[in-house]
Amino acid sequence: MLERRLLFVTGKGGVGKTAVSAGLALAAAQRGASVLLCDLEGRGDVAASFGVGDVRFAPRPVALQTDPSKPASGQGSLSLMAMDTEASLREYLHLNLRLPLLGRIGPLARTFDFVADAAPGVKEILAVGKLAWEVRERNYDLVIADSPASGHIVGHLAAPQAIAELVQVGLIRSQTDWMLDIIGDPAQTGVVVVTTAEEMPVTETIELLATLRQRTTADIAAVVVNRVLPELFTHRDEALFGELCEGDARRVLEAEVGAGVGVVLDAARLATGLRRRAAGHHDRLRDVEVGVPLLYLPERFGGDTGRAFSEWTATALDEEL
Ligand SMILES: Nc1ncnc2c1ncn2[C@@H]1O[C@H](COP(=O)(O)OP(=O)(O)O)[C@@H](O)[C@H]1O
Ligand SMILES: [Mg+2]
Repeated sequence: MLERRLLFVTGKGGVGKTAVSAGLALAAAQRGASVLLCDLEGRGDVAASFGVGDVRFAPRPVALQTDPSKPASGQGSLSLMAMDTEASLREYLHLNLRLPLLGRIGPLARTFDFVADAAPGVKEILAVGKLAWEVRERNYDLVIADSPASGHIVGHLAAPQAIAELVQVGLIRSQTDWMLDIIGDPAQTGVVVVTTAEEMPVTETIELLATLRQRTTADIAAVVVNRVLPELFTHRDEALFGELCEGDARRVLEAEVGAGVGVVLDAARLATGLRRRAAGHHDRLRDVEVGVPLLYLPERFGGDTGRAFSEWTATALDEEL
């Protein structure tokens, strides 16, 4: 997966898209790649994952090694950016038509908003086009897009094709063909769908994978099953808990060991129950999506946030890969 050049990380809201994007980006950089991590959602979550205040269109490098006592890892690098479609348009005009870099001037900005709102696919192609351009120019080894949720990612990935079909003329055509080449090439581009082993996220994931196959040329790189609960007990343990919770056993045990033991037994049964329910949803996913690589990211207990949490997801995903 990390040998590809462009990864779109998507999934249902709240399942861990940003966590997985940040973890993959950091893992790849720590393995020695130069990585660009782009926030396509624009809520500042990527910036928060690395504990930096403000991330904008211009890439901002972050340190790979925060612990100075450890040796610097590899030769990799990580930069963060947030998508801004108007800035992307300005950069495009500057690079392709050699127009001077313009500030945001009133009439142009208003025209842009008007066109972008009226014509479907314009904002999307400016976002996807910018990322594909970074790949084409080989400015980074790997570009990772922390992408919008299920419903919107299809529009992004289908935009170059939609515009190519709409506008058959030379100039635009030649500007979409190279994007289609990059997005449709499984060696270069992949979609990573994040889910949790719960009913709605798994159902949505199965639907999203079908829609991606139907409406886009992008390859599915992997599904990440996030927040996997640890297997704490064996089947024998579980049978024993069952017996201890029944009838007189519990009363006798509490009298011998103390009242707290009942609470521990309840917690143990809850943990196995939750895990078993998740296993059912996981099996449904695995049975429908035969052949799609599944990666597992455990539930992280302890409430880490920001950079510390991203370091943890990077290590966990790296081991999984
Ligand atoms: N493996 C995990 N263990 C514990 N908490 C997690 C895990 N993955 C994500 N979270 C938490 O779940 C919340 C949503 O994750 P986030 O990556 O922001 O989701 P999304 O980008 O899909 O909306 C965050 O508070 C995040 O810290
Ligand atoms: Mg997010």
